[in-house]
Amino acid sequence: MRAVGVREPGGPAALRLVELPVPEPGPGEIRIRVRAAAVNPTDTVYRQLGPAPEEGLDPPWIPGMELAGTVDAVGDTSVAGTAPWSVGDRVMAIVMPRRRHGGAYAEQVVVPADAAAAIPDGIGDAEASTLPMNGLTVVSALAHLALPPGAVLGVTGAAGAVGGYAIELGRAAGLTVVADASAADEELVASLGADVVVRSSRDPREEVAAFRAAVPGGVDGLLDAAVLDAGALGIVRDGGALATVRFWDGPAERGIRVHPVRVRDHLHDGAGIARLADLVVRGRLTLRLAGTVPAAEAASAHERLEAGGVRGRLVLTF
Ligand SMILES: NC(=O)c1ccc[n+]([C@@H]2O[C@H](COP(=O)([O-])OP(=O)(O)OC[C@H]3O[C@@H](n4cnc5c(N)ncnc54)[C@H](OP(=O)(O)O)[C@@H]3O)[C@@H](O)[C@H]2O)c1
Repeated sequence: MRAVGVREPGGPAALRLVELPVPEPGPGEIRIRVRAAAVNPTDTVYRQLGPAPEEGLDPPWIPGMELAGTVDAVGDTSVAGTAPWSVGDRVMAIVMPRRRHGGAYAEQVVVPADAAAAIPDGIGDAEASTLPMNGLTVVSALAHLALPPGAVLGVTGAAGAVGGYAIELGRAAGLTVVADASAADEELVASLGADVVVRSSRDPREEVAAFRAAVPGGVDGLLDAAVLDAGALGIVRDGGALATVRFWDGPAERGIRVHPVRVRDHLHDGAGIARLADLVVRGRLTLRLAGTVPAAEAASAHERLEAGGVRGRLVLTF
C-alpha cells in the first residue's frame, strides 16, 4: 500500500510516497481504508525532527494524527470492550504516528477499535478527518480549565483549527468567549460565535493589552492555541487557569494554574469523537476544510501550512 513517509527529517520535500506492507489488525483493532488524512502543525514538527532515538522507530516515519475512511478489516473482536465495527462502516479516528504502524498518511491504517467513531450521514470524508484530533484537544483543554457556565474563556490563535473548535465548544459549554483575530480574520472569528473579538498581535504585550482592554480583570481560563506560553499569562486573571498546547508548564504567576494539554492521552476516546460528531450534526460545531490535496503532493500541503494563514484544514486524499 502507498503511504507518505519521511526517511530523512527535513523540509516539506522530505515527504515521499513510500510502499509499505498492508498492516493487519490485531485483537481489538480495525483497519481503515483511508480516504482523507488531515494535515496538522504537529505533522510538520514530526517531519522536521523525526522520532527521538529512544522511541526506537525505523524509517520511513509516517506522520498524521487524524483520518477518515472505511473499515476494511476487523481484528479479533472477542476482546472486552471492543466496539462492534463491520467491514464497510464509515469511520473517523485519532491515531498516534509515533508507533511501529505509523500515522494517518497511508492508504490503510490500523487503529484500536475504540479510537474510531462513525461518520454521520451527510459529512464527507475530508471534512470528517478534520475533527478527531483537534476536537479532542479542545475537549481535553476545557476539561483541564474546568470553567463553570458563565465564566470567561479566552482563546488565542482563534482563527486556527484548535481555536475555532475552542470558540464553538466554549459557547456550547455556556462560557463567554473572548477570542483574538487579525483584521482579516475578524469576521471569521465572530461568525464562529465569539462574544468578543480582540485584535491579535505577534507582540505578546499587545496581545495581552488587547484582551485586558476587553476583560480588565483577566479571563477565567485561556486556551493558548497561538502558543504564546509565558507571554499569555497576562491575559489570565489572578488564580485563573491556562491551557497550553506545546507542553509549556510554567512557572506561572499570581496563582495561575498551567495545564499542558496532551491529546495523546485521548487515543482511545472514540466515544468523545462521537459526541463531537453529534455537535456537528446539530450545527454547534463547524468542520472547516481549506482544501484537498492528493497524497502524492503532501509536500505542497506542508508548505502551505507552514507559510501560515491557511484557514480551515488541508486534507490529503488517498
Ligand atoms: N498538545 C496537543 O496535544 C496539541 C493538539 C493539537 C494541536 N496542538 C498545537 O496547537 C497549536 C494550534 O494548532 P492549530 O491546528 O489550531 O494551528 P493553526 O490552525 O495553524 O492555527 C494557529 C493559529 O494561531 C495563530 N498564531 C500563530 N502564532 C501566533 C502568534 N505568535 N501570535 C498570534 N497568533 C498566532 C495563527 O495565525 P497564522 O496562521 O496567521 O500564523 C493561527 O490563527 C499548534 O501548535 C499545534 O501543534 C497541540
